[in-house]
Amino acid sequence: MSEKTTMRAIEYSTFGGPDVLRLEEVDLPEPGPGQVRVAVHAAGVNTLDWKIREGQLGEQPMPQRPGLELAGVVDATGSGCRATIGEQIFGWSLTGAYADYALADIVASKPRALPWHEAASLPVAGEAAVRALRELEIRPGETLLIHGASGTVGTIATQLAIAAGAIVIGTADDANTDYLSGLGAIPVKYGGGLTGRVREITTRIDAVLDAAGFGALPDLLALRGSTERILTLADSAASRKGVRFSSRTPSVNDAESLTELATKVTTGQLRLRRGHIYSLPQAADAQQDSATSHTRGKITLKIS
Ligand SMILES: NC(=O)c1ccc[n+]([C@@H]2O[C@H](COP(=O)([O-])OP(=O)(O)OC[C@H]3O[C@@H](n4cnc5c(N)ncnc54)[C@H](OP(=O)(O)O)[C@@H]3O)[C@@H](O)[C@H]2O)c1
Repeated sequence: MSEKTTMRAIEYSTFGGPDVLRLEEVDLPEPGPGQVRVAVHAAGVNTLDWKIREGQLGEQPMPQRPGLELAGVVDATGSGCRATIGEQIFGWSLTGAYADYALADIVASKPRALPWHEAASLPVAGEAAVRALRELEIRPGETLLIHGASGTVGTIATQLAIAAGAIVIGTADDANTDYLSGLGAIPVKYGGGLTGRVREITTRIDAVLDAAGFGALPDLLALRGSTERILTLADSAASRKGVRFSSRTPSVNDAESLTELATKVTTGQLRLRRGHIYSLPQAADAQQDSATSHTRGKITLKIS
């Protein structure tokens, strides 16, 4: 257990650009029942982090400490907690993972073979990809259109859908055509003329996953031909078009799902795409990089 009483953490007290992020010295959090305190080795940087910081998700308690996912070593445990001190784990952060230490309750053991940055990349994107495919009820032989297949969520969803027997048509920038082909998807460039390009490949799209947004829903709806079996993870205006926006409901099964995803990565069934690794004091640069939406891989913070 750490003998420190304070730690470094990234925080902000007002919504705004990356410049509102401050590196602060704050008290170590104390784990409550069922919680672990984690000495954070790596934290995932998500689009949600800067969307919250910009105020896009409405009022938040201040100060805010970003960071939804982490990988690290259990440093202290609350009552009734099954994890052991010294255990390498990864999972969902309760107190903001952009910090030397964070509390967590939904965690799984990190396989030794799984690098810290990959473990910290799995919870948010992995959960979203698994959930989306489950909600879309993808069956073998069906054709799934994934908008944003080259992104972090799209990369995982594409591979899981293909492994489940689906044919995946994936949208991406031209620069990611080879990348998507390498994953086994049929690449198609996003942007104006998307419907025509997809229809040259097939006129039958059984399901659509929007994992990018950027106003593509009208085209995606036209290609699907129905509001059934189409969902978005990224377009908050979807309900006006009759399309479901899918968001996470934390569940006791989440830890099991983390273990399954980690096993897939360590056994080579699932490839993750590594983006830039920043240090904790570079959190603003990391979020700016994420906000370009062309990161070519998952951005993480290396914390210790
Ligand atoms: N609802 C949920 O539960 C949930 C959970 C996780 C994520 N999300 C959301 O899902 C989205 C994707 O997350 P992520 O982590 O995968 O992000 P990411 O890694 O940054 O990927 C962004 C994707 O958007 C594509 N893109 C960029 N500019 C585009 C444009 N102008 N038109 C069409 N596509 C464009 C990128 O393609 P190129 O790189 O090929 O340009 C890439 O495929 C984000 O909006 C995130 O907030 C939602």
